[in-house]
Amino acid sequence: MFVTFEGLDGCGKTTQAVLLADALRGDGVEVVSTREPGGTPLGEAIRDLVLHGGHVAPWAEAALYAASRAQHVDGVIRPALERGATVVCDRYIDSSVAYQGVGRGLGLEEVLALNLAVVGGLLPDRTVLVEIDPETAAERVGSSGDRIERDGIALWRRVAGAYRTLAERYPERYVVVDGRRSVAEVAEEIRDRLR
Ligand code: TYD
Repeated sequence: MFVTFEGLDGCGKTTQAVLLADALRGDGVEVVSTREPGGTPLGEAIRDLVLHGGHVAPWAEAALYAASRAQHVDGVIRPALERGATVVCDRYIDSSVAYQGVGRGLGLEEVLALNLAVVGGLLPDRTVLVEIDPETAAERVGSSGDRIERDGIALWRRVAGAYRTLAERYPERYVVVDGRRSVAEVAEEIRDRLR
């Protein structure tokens, strides 16, 4: 089982990914918790480059995220799935489609195609979208965030719209939850709906 978490910065998905992984482990499931960009030494180096470096051209950014993802799938995600573990990943392909494809205007289909190519077509079984509106995201994240976070609310509006489009395109994969409620309420809904 391959589960990914998606949403705007500040939506609380990282907390929810940890809580789901803990709950599954409590049920005796082997869980591999990981994140993107990152998840491997190469991926963590790429994370530093794209999140904390200077200007990165939009397609360079998309290609770097894709490179991180290719390494991550090859070295971590696919081996874990092959031995029967459950993988819980904080962000995956949908982040690139939403942020680079639609947020940066590179094209939803183009960025999706690039990413499907580099991971050999591996899509998650379930994608939990923790929804908050862009204004709430801005309030929660403030002005101290990383590079994309500083580009702010106009980008997030496009990203939020892109996630909606993806949820409609993949209704059997997407689990959309309202991220404005308490952490415990959101966690409970996610557990119930994944069962
Ligand atoms: P995230 O790990 O959620 O942030 P944090 O450092 O707060 O835990 O994501 C970092 C940023 O990377 C976020 O603004 C979204 C961006 N991102 C993309 O633009 N494309 C991608 O493919 C991925 C994986 C992340």
